[in-house]
Amino acid sequence: MFSTLVYSLLIPVLAAQAQIANPNIVGTWTSQSRAVSTGPEFANPAQLTFNYPKNTGVSFSFTQDGFYEIARYRFRSNGSEPNCIIGILQWVHGTYTIETNGSIVTTPFGDGYQQIQDPCAAQSNFIEPYNFTEVYSLYRQFQDATQGLKLHLFEWDGTPVAPLFQLSTTPNMHPTRSLRNDSNPVIERRSNGAATGVDNLRMVGGVVGMAAISALASLML
Ligand SMILES: *[C@@H]1O[C@H](CO)[C@@H](O)[C@H](O)[C@H]1NC(C)=O
Ligand SMILES: *[C@@H]1O[C@H](CO)[C@@H](O)[C@H](O)[C@H]1NC(C)=O
Ligand SMILES: *[C@@H]1O[C@H](CO)[C@@H](O)[C@H](O)[C@H]1NC(C)=O
Repeated sequence: MFSTLVYSLLIPVLAAQAQIANPNIVGTWTSQSRAVSTGPEFANPAQLTFNYPKNTGVSFSFTQDGFYEIARYRFRSNGSEPNCIIGILQWVHGTYTIETNGSIVTTPFGDGYQQIQDPCAAQSNFIEPYNFTEVYSLYRQFQDATQGLKLHLFEWDGTPVAPLFQLSTTPNMHPTRSLRNDSNPVIERRSNGAATGVDNLRMVGGVVGMAAISALASLML
């Protein structure tokens, strides 16, 4: 019922585009800005670092044999604190299945991570693990006259993900296995008393190097 509802709401909006009868999600997909892509240009998981894209966006890659990768760069505003724009960089990969009900279910390897920059928080910049299973309740594919092939994903609650355009038919991805020796770093967060970010990030038993720490420091808002 839920799927039918979402679908019937979609039809009028997308009527101008041809729906693909047998969608194929294999490849690399990115939102309108085309600024964010999965793969090595966005994230360096062994170092727990990110390269800042020129614009916000989201990218998904899927392989034929069941691996996925997601890269996100977004801002979130806070209604009660309009000056406090939170920046989030997120990277995760693992395996996925397409269930018989049409949902895509991802299972992360455990080496995903995210960087949160919140200029108004005591802890203004930190990195933490990101290891959530994501469920996309349904997906549709369309041929757009000007933009080419488009992938529409819907979150578990039906919220549409920004339409995704095909960056490449061959997925641009990191190796499809866990990329940190310590797959479960404990990241200790500290209050932001210091002038640099160095004291804010301390991994216990982790592998973060000086390069990662200085990169993080240089990203401080
Ligand atoms: C918005 O700011 C308030 C007060 O600083 C904080 O309690 C809340 O968690 C923030 N919300 C988000 C979504 O960051
Ligand atoms: C990451 O999530 C997967 C799927 O829930 C789980 O099997 C795995 O143990 C988790 N890894 C870590 C390091 O938490
Ligand atoms: C489809 O099945 C998967 C796996 O059982 C479940 O996680 C998902 O919520 C289901 N999707 C819908 C739309 O009910």
